[in-house]
Amino acid sequence: MAVPRDIAKAPVERAVSYSESGSPTTTFHSPPSASQGSFMGALVHRAASAAAKQLKPFNTKEVKILLLENVNQTGRDILTAQGYQVEFLKTSLPEDQLIERIRDVHVLGIRSKTKLTAKVLQEAKNLLVVGCFCIGTNQVDLDYAAQHGIAVFNSPFANSRSVAELVIGEIISLARQLGDRSLEMHRGTWNKVSSKCWEIRGKTLGIVGYGHIGSQLSVLAEAMGMTVIYYDVLTLMAIGTSRQVPTLEALLEDADFVTLHVPETPETKNMISTKEFERMKKGSYLINASRGTVVDIPALIKAMRAGKIAGAALDVYPNEPAANGDYFVNELNGWAEDLRGLGNIILTPHIGGSTEEAQRAIGVEVAEALVRYINQGITLGSVNLPEVTMRSLTVTEPKHARVIYVHRNVPGVLRKVNEILAAGEHNVDKQTSDSKGDVAYLMADVSNVETEQIKDIRDSLDSLSSRILTRVLY
Ligand SMILES: NC(=O)c1ccc[n+]([C@@H]2O[C@H](COP(=O)([O-])OP(=O)(O)OC[C@H]3O[C@@H](n4cnc5c(N)ncnc54)[C@H](O)[C@@H]3O)[C@@H](O)[C@H]2O)c1
Repeated sequence: MAVPRDIAKAPVERAVSYSESGSPTTTFHSPPSASQGSFMGALVHRAASAAAKQLKPFNTKEVKILLLENVNQTGRDILTAQGYQVEFLKTSLPEDQLIERIRDVHVLGIRSKTKLTAKVLQEAKNLLVVGCFCIGTNQVDLDYAAQHGIAVFNSPFANSRSVAELVIGEIISLARQLGDRSLEMHRGTWNKVSSKCWEIRGKTLGIVGYGHIGSQLSVLAEAMGMTVIYYDVLTLMAIGTSRQVPTLEALLEDADFVTLHVPETPETKNMISTKEFERMKKGSYLINASRGTVVDIPALIKAMRAGKIAGAALDVYPNEPAANGDYFVNELNGWAEDLRGLGNIILTPHIGGSTEEAQRAIGVEVAEALVRYINQGITLGSVNLPEVTMRSLTVTEPKHARVIYVHRNVPGVLRKVNEILAAGEHNVDKQTSDSKGDVAYLMADVSNVETEQIKDIRDSLDSLSSRILTRVLY
């Protein structure tokens, strides 16, 4: 049986290579769904329903994927199950080798160590999409990628639960001075004390930033008998019996434990500094597993030395080393050694989200996003292209094609695209378009498309001056 394929064409400087063999009428074979096993996947799966037409870009077996940096098995399995050619490496690659290896790949999977600069990306002539199997995307030149029609996906929230659980552990550890007792025992010292050691039941937890992590934490803390208050710039529905307070000051004055779960923005830089420590209760605790810039650490050191703050847990720092080793020293952060000398402070190397479960969830989420993008052109969750989705074509629509046109966000493009489609007597059944900065993404499902017309559609769209990338899936 001939395999279905996509006619995709990248900008002139990036001519995506593909096979035009196969028949578009054989597009209905259903590979194992990549969307099984996750909530998001279940939603997509349900929306697609059993009669969804499997749109295939290229001959499936021609889709070349390179996965670097030991991407989790869950992600590898999903991509392999699609029939793509998946090459897997445990490590990242030095720039020269990376350039050699990515010249002909359509999909690249990385984690945080692979730097995808403009210099590297411009060599990847066939590249359609990058999956960052991690949280951050700083390692990718997102703007260059968008300008060249390369979608980038990541997994920002797959580790929320892991962070929330770590914070629960830290609350108890700080209240019982566990870190110090354990260190003393490691040094051979028996020091049984109960003074200033507390149960957490009945204490008030103040959560700053009630998003994915903050709200998870709220549930766990209440289950342990804590009273939860939270402050957020948005008015958010309270979970359980937690209560939103109107200001950060109100939270600081009331909380026995203050935990930070805000993003890094100009507004959150040094959000907790001298003035805020003065507001906090004497003997209260501070936890920061958000971003290193949110706490003014010299001010924390002063507040702890003065006995105002009874303990702290820090997982994140303004400057973090790129590799493991003996780097937590003054050369990296001027106050590191002062911090290390304090009592009842838990210092961890940005491990809040580092669990096996989170890695597995990231593998599933990113791989599913890649499959949706390759097979259906859906950009939901993309960090650099506008997020566009449409319900699937169904098997009862055999002469339909999905046109994807990534283009410069200039006036009149929609009209020109529709003129091209109308000239071919194709009916636009549904169409959606969105823009992000100067890049726009148009998706249209058109009917009355004969196989031999697909190339004409693609060529006509390619001839428009606004074009960045054209794909026709069918
Ligand atoms: N330690 C780790 O390993 C780890 C892992 C994952 C996430 N994080 C960090 O945790 C933080 C929270 O992540 P999340 O997934 O919960 O994010 P999120 O976007 O789901 O939630 C952030 C919340 O903060 C609120 N907020 C933004 N600015 C604010 C301000 N100035 N004052 C008060 N509230 C504000 C937002 O409205 C939102 O509700 C982020 O900084 C993220 O980078 C750390």
